[in-house]
Amino acid sequence: MAIQWFPGHMHLTRKAITERIKSTDVVIEILDARLPGSSANPMLAELTGAKPKLKVLNKQDLADPVRTAQWLAFYGEQEGTRALALDASEPAPALRLLALCRELVPHRGTLLKPMRVLVCGIPNVGKSTLINTLSGRRIARTGDEAGITKLEQRIDLSAEFVLFDTPGMLWPKIMVPQSGFNLAASGAIGRNAFDEEEVAFELMDYLKHDYPALLEQRYQIEGVADLVDAELLVAIGRKRGALLKGGKVNVQKVAEAVLSDFRSASLGRITLETPAQFLAWQGAAAGERSARPAGS
Ligand code: G4P
Repeated sequence: MAIQWFPGHMHLTRKAITERIKSTDVVIEILDARLPGSSANPMLAELTGAKPKLKVLNKQDLADPVRTAQWLAFYGEQEGTRALALDASEPAPALRLLALCRELVPHRGTLLKPMRVLVCGIPNVGKSTLINTLSGRRIARTGDEAGITKLEQRIDLSAEFVLFDTPGMLWPKIMVPQSGFNLAASGAIGRNAFDEEEVAFELMDYLKHDYPALLEQRYQIEGVADLVDAELLVAIGRKRGALLKGGKVNVQKVAEAVLSDFRSASLGRITLETPAQFLAWQGAAAGERSARPAGS
C-alpha cells in the first residue's frame, strides 16, 4: 500500500512562503542526501519560481558518496542553481554555503543591501542543526513537535547576511510510491503513518539489488541477491537476535532492526535513489495519474 502523508497547515505555509519569497534573494533547500528527490517538496519549486537556489544535500556522512556526486552534478546543471553536500554540524562546509549565496547573487550581501536567504526543508532534514551551525549558537525554536506550525524566524548572521527560517512546516508531499517508502525508511515521516514491516521489506528489496555487498557484510550472509525474502529474514533475524523458539522469525523485530541499521548507517553509507531512478519513478507516476479517469 502506498504511503500517504500530507498533514494540514500546508495552505498556511503556502501563503506565508509566497509572502516571504518576494523579498528573498536566495532559497536554500535542504535535502536528505540519502533521498534527495523524495525529500524535496514539489510545492516549493512552484512557489519559489526562478529565484536563485542552493540545494544542500545534508547528512552526506550517511549517504553513498558516489551517488551524492551524481546528485550534485544533476542539480548543478539546473538554471540558477548551485548544490553542496555537507554534514550540518560541521562549520567549515556550512560556511561554504554562504560563499555560494554570494556567487549566486553578487549584488547583495552589503550593509546597504543585505543578503536575504530563506531556508527551507521538510522536518527532520537538519534545518535547525544547519541554522545553529551557521549562527554559532542554539536558536530556540517554537513548536518543535511534529504537527505544530511554527512562526517564521529571522536570524541575523551579520549585518550583511540574514537567514529566514521557513514560515510554517514544509511537510513532504508524496508524489511517487517509492518516495513514501524512502521517506519512511529515513525517519522523515511519522511512525503511525506507515507499516514498518512493509517499509522494511521495500528497503531490503532495494538493498538486495543496489547494495547486496552491504547486506552480506552486515548480516554475514552470502549470495544475497539469490535469497528469497523468507531466507533473508531468517538470516537477518539470526544476526540481530530476532529469532523465536523453533527458529521462527520475529518479523516485526527484524523490520525494526533493518530500519535502525539503515538510519544509523550501521549497514554502511547508502543512498536510496539515483537521479535516473527518481526521474523514472516520477515519469511512471505521472503516466499513471494521467491514465486515471478524471476525478478518481
Ligand atoms: P529539522 O530542524 O530539519 O527538523 O532537523 P534537525 O536539525 O532537528 O535534525 C534532525 C536530526 O538529524 C537530528 O538528530 C540531527 O542531529 C540529525 N542531523 C542533522 N544534520 C545531520 C547530518 O548532517 N548528519 C547526520 N548524521 N545527522 C544529522 P536527532 O537524533 O533527531 O537529534 P540529536 O539528538 O542528534 O540532536
